[in-house]
Amino acid sequence: MIDRIDHIAIAVEHLESAIDIWVKLLGCDRSAVAIHEVPSEKVRAAFIPIGETKIELLEPLGDDGPIAKFLSKNGAGMHHIALATDGIEAEAKRAADEGLTPLGEPSAGAGGKKIVFLHPRQTNRVLVEFVEPKGTH
Ligand code: CO
Repeated sequence: MIDRIDHIAIAVEHLESAIDIWVKLLGCDRSAVAIHEVPSEKVRAAFIPIGETKIELLEPLGDDGPIAKFLSKNGAGMHHIALATDGIEAEAKRAADEGLTPLGEPSAGAGGKKIVFLHPRQTNRVLVEFVEPKGTH
């Protein structure tokens, strides 16, 4: 079951200055920000909690990963919406059965959580991520 928005992700050029902006905007403490390096995706990701949801800031590691490509094409901005599910394999299969296009099998993303993306061509050009948070359900 999909039961909430887990996070909204924004591609940024410089993680530290983006964190400064969002910490100010949200009025939260910088110690609440969790930073993960995800070498498999070639990103550094910062998660800033807002209740049960988070803002995810994505900075490219190197210049050939998906976020580096996104930035060179579009500049900084909204990158994806992540929906939380307690059964990611079942949701990916259900989405595929509905004619959507999961991009590969669910695999470990930031913080070791299982994630899978859906191709944006069928979702109004919005990149959607399914994420199965660990131990939060
Ligand atoms: Co994400």
